[in-house]
Amino acid sequence: MAGTTATDPGVTALGAGGNDGTMRAIVRSRYGGPDVLELATVERPTPAADEVLIAVRAASVNAGDRHLMRGSPFLVRLIYGGITRPRSGPLGVDVAGRVEAVGEAVTRFEPGDEVFGDLSTSGFGAFAEYVCAPEDVLASKPAGVTFEDAAAVPTAAVAALQALRDEGGIRAGERVLVNGASGGVGTFAVQLANWFGAEVTGVCSTAKVELVRSLGADHVVDYTREDATESGRTYDLIVDTAASHSLSAYRRALRPEGRYVMVGGPTSRFVRTVVFGPLLSMTGTKRLTNLMLRTNPEDLAFVGERLVAGDITPVIDREYELTDVPEAIRYLEAGRATGKVMVAVRGPNEGGDLAATAASDRSETSAA
Ligand SMILES: NC(=O)c1ccc[n+]([C@@H]2O[C@H](COP(=O)([O-])OP(=O)(O)OC[C@H]3O[C@@H](n4cnc5c(N)ncnc54)[C@H](OP(=O)(O)O)[C@@H]3O)[C@@H](O)[C@H]2O)c1
Repeated sequence: MAGTTATDPGVTALGAGGNDGTMRAIVRSRYGGPDVLELATVERPTPAADEVLIAVRAASVNAGDRHLMRGSPFLVRLIYGGITRPRSGPLGVDVAGRVEAVGEAVTRFEPGDEVFGDLSTSGFGAFAEYVCAPEDVLASKPAGVTFEDAAAVPTAAVAALQALRDEGGIRAGERVLVNGASGGVGTFAVQLANWFGAEVTGVCSTAKVELVRSLGADHVVDYTREDATESGRTYDLIVDTAASHSLSAYRRALRPEGRYVMVGGPTSRFVRTVVFGPLLSMTGTKRLTNLMLRTNPEDLAFVGERLVAGDITPVIDREYELTDVPEAIRYLEAGRATGKVMVAVRGPNEGGDLAATAASDRSETSAA
């Protein structure tokens, strides 16, 4: 990342940073499976004028991390650069941490502030001890919210929010179906749809039925036993994180004026919805669209407020150390995760074991 050095007058630093200008980060020099990832000591980045340097405390793993790691679908190579070899630095989209230094044009943050955000538009890098990010992709971490919980929400909860509210136009009293209700996005979609006052049906596998019910779903469909699009029940809004049915099946399951929003699933199905969704939406009153997540501090702040109020609670499946990011991505790829898979990051200034750090975060929260 372009920027200034730690001795530049334009950079305000918090303490010495506790190291020799280096940091540990997960890097890779080629595309492939989790084995291409390695923990390396690299130069610590320095913030450009509009950036802050964050001492990372927690990150979370998303499907986007595996796409970037594998360079697949091929489109990610075109978008992020690096046709034959990856050009971006460390991976990692979702971050929460403490501001260590700020560039001279930064107005919203100062050293010591606690922040969280989504680095997908600013070069990634959350799987590292430090990362630089423009201030406009970050929000202040609310007091009383742990770093772990804050790092769970930037992609998954904001995607759920934008799918329900912006693409889906959710209204109180509507019937909402969340397909893939036990995953990272789905667990937030069920809770947020409930908060918006909808009647929520969640679709998941057998082992996760009780969890989805506990998140506030009024009805739960076990997809191994029942096809939610064939039950005869219809919905005002379908938020789909799995794309396990045809577009015509989803269309049949919509009420008149109903909306289908595809968030994720296999790439071929995403392309199908981009191409055929608008065509199918031209006939009749039902609308079929894709979500394209738009990172912004307002929506981060919104989900932060929902965390503080207890309206949403991240479902954390597992937490890995920075050294174990390859295992964390391998676990996500296996498709068995429930809710979010987290990465705890302990910088050079932070002694003690990770469990103690997480426990102290949690006790700060309960004391607040
Ligand atoms: N459009 C955007 O801007 C955007 C933003 C964020 C994420 N995404 C995409 O959204 C997708 C979901 O992300 P995520 O983080 O929630 O992934 P995830 O945590 O892996 O969750 C996916 C869920 O799909 C469920 N599932 C699998 N087969 C199913 C089936 N046949 N019927 C119903 N549900 C099924 C799984 O539930 P069980 O475990 O119960 O089987 C799993 O919990 C990914 O493709 C991701 O790339 C897109």
